[in-house]
Amino acid sequence: MLVEGYATPEGTDRFRRRFADRLPGHYREAQQLWTASIGLGTYLGDPTQEVDHLYRDAVIRTAEMGTNVFDTAINYRHMRSERAIAQGLAALISSGAVRREEVILATKGGFLAFDGEVSQDPSDYFREKLIESGLVQAEEVVSGCHVMSPRFLANQIDTSRKNLGVETIDIYYLHNPETQLKEVSREEFLRRLKAAFSALEQAVADGKIRMYGTATWNGYRVPADSEESIALQSVLDAAAEVGGKDHHFRAVQLPFNIAMPEALTDNTQPIGGRQVPFLHLARDHGLMVFASASLLQSQLTQGLPEEFRQWIPGLGTDAQRAIQFVRSTPGITCALAGMSRPVHIEENLATASVPPLSLRDYRKIFQAS
Ligand SMILES: NC(=O)c1ccc[n+]([C@@H]2O[C@H](COP(=O)([O-])OP(=O)(O)OC[C@H]3O[C@@H](n4cnc5c(N)ncnc54)[C@H](OP(=O)(O)O)[C@@H]3O)[C@@H](O)[C@H]2O)c1
Repeated sequence: MLVEGYATPEGTDRFRRRFADRLPGHYREAQQLWTASIGLGTYLGDPTQEVDHLYRDAVIRTAEMGTNVFDTAINYRHMRSERAIAQGLAALISSGAVRREEVILATKGGFLAFDGEVSQDPSDYFREKLIESGLVQAEEVVSGCHVMSPRFLANQIDTSRKNLGVETIDIYYLHNPETQLKEVSREEFLRRLKAAFSALEQAVADGKIRMYGTATWNGYRVPADSEESIALQSVLDAAAEVGGKDHHFRAVQLPFNIAMPEALTDNTQPIGGRQVPFLHLARDHGLMVFASASLLQSQLTQGLPEEFRQWIPGLGTDAQRAIQFVRSTPGITCALAGMSRPVHIEENLATASVPPLSLRDYRKIFQAS
């Protein structure tokens, strides 16, 4: 049985109020949901039962510490991360610690995924599961790993709902759509994007997802003339074309951290004859923005330059300073941090007891560097 419901304004506000006194400035309102400024990511780790249990327990512990954002993807650890989130969420709901409408569940589709473990013969596996079953046409597969056809996405959404154990996914991302640009023309890319968005609008209408967006790696942060670059405005236009002015493209995810600040600093986004930073345009459209790789996949957890202690005060470790930088960035809704080990969870979420930097103090980092 799938858990009914979805994140609501009232539910997320109730969650926020339980922690607001202890965690000043930790929650932001975006798309009418109160969102913790540090969320749990579940990308890394071996596809083992040991890591499954770590992520299940991470969901429970992070929620107890004030996090209501859980991010995953169908292909993460071959669907095991989605299933670990389901276990953690079920435990939280059955103990009465949280209700479904208090938490925001996000997942992604686009990459071909194994089921639990890597198949011995990946080509045979995908040929049988995808091509011979008629789910995917061979010409829809890019780089041997990526598909964004409506039929495939509808199937992936149902699989993710089952894996996560929920009727409704709060945010569904098209995963790294820029992968397609390696093999198809921009014209064909836009055609595929619109078709994908039609499927996602349909999933919203069917109550299977609440909103959708894109999770990218290079797409929004590389220069506009790069092969993989994506103009957010063209994506929003595609959503409006298929979903009307009240379309449900409402969230984006992209890497953002001290070493990858392009979303804030680089004018990658064309708009009305000029170029602006991604966060500028995302803010104008009221999008939720989730930062992935806040710790640059653990590389920012030690050895930050000494100046960061002054620029980002009140915290004891580099991991905390790196997270504080991301969650203090104007326009970032939530800093996602992958953390399966309890010691990392305790360290990272202790950041939330210190308010985010003021805009004035945040600007000092860029003036000084
Ligand atoms: N294209 C995309 O859509 C995309 C790409 C990348 C990431 N994401 C999302 O963003 C989330 C965050 O990114 P990420 O997981 O790639 O990288 P990350 O959050 O930058 O780093 C995660 C890594 O850092 C380690 N870590 C966490 N806290 C630590 C601490 N205090 N000290 C030392 N090490 C620490 C974790 O180890 P343990 O697990 O052992 O605790 C894990 O190996 C992902 O989980 C995923 O949900 C999306």
